[in-house]
Amino acid sequence: MQYVNIFDSHAHYDDAAFDEDREQLLAALPGAGVRLVVNCGADLASSRKAAALAREYPYFYAAAGIHPEEAHDLPEDWEDELKALLSQPREVAVGEIGLDYHFDENPPREAQRDVFQKQIILANSLGLPVIIHDRDAHGDTMELLQKHRPRGVVHCFSGSVEMAKEVLRLGMYIGLGGAVTFKNARVPVEVAKMVPPDRLLLETDCPYMAPVPFRGKRNDSSLIAYTAARIAEIRGEDAQELIDCAFRNASRLFLGNENATGD
Ligand code: NI
Repeated sequence: MQYVNIFDSHAHYDDAAFDEDREQLLAALPGAGVRLVVNCGADLASSRKAAALAREYPYFYAAAGIHPEEAHDLPEDWEDELKALLSQPREVAVGEIGLDYHFDENPPREAQRDVFQKQIILANSLGLPVIIHDRDAHGDTMELLQKHRPRGVVHCFSGSVEMAKEVLRLGMYIGLGGAVTFKNARVPVEVAKMVPPDRLLLETDCPYMAPVPFRGKRNDSSLIAYTAARIAEIRGEDAQELIDCAFRNASRLFLGNENATGD
């Protein structure tokens, strides 16, 4: 499956799952049709690693943010740290940030909401888009998005068609990844069908969420080919055209220019 022009709008190549062969793997991405990648931070340490990857690889950009599962034991000056990181070149978004109510042992909801809200306000003040993680927290997520109206994307979209409509009404993008290809995927398929072409982003969330037929294995940006092929099939479109369209969308959102080259 060979496509070109892939823009992976959400990756975690700083993850330990890539420690053994990161250099090799990242060097091979352009040859596999991957043109640009946004590597997301999940806490201050991984946001620093994301920044380092963006310095090293000309086809990488970075996002910096505190993931809701990391919204605890933060240093007093975390907001200043984040702001300093985000002022560096090739920083294109605040993310990933949001709410995750899935596990009881996650940080208290109050703390999650506080850290999330502060980061949306920071993104708005810096003129940057946000990359939103929402897991089993649709109501509270939508409330804060409606209140602050950031630009951005709801990544690995897991909400209903109704919620997708609300996200679109706010002018935001919808990120779709490997979950669309899963056998039991019903709602993600419906969402993939209804997202307007100019609001759809492709993503991996690698090392997680590998598409079928690699489900459960380590994911990487080249496998977006399988996700795109499935979404194109659902929508009755051509996969390369869908990839091209998602490239323009991600470039518009993160780089402010539809024809961005990554230079
Ligand atoms: Ni992620």
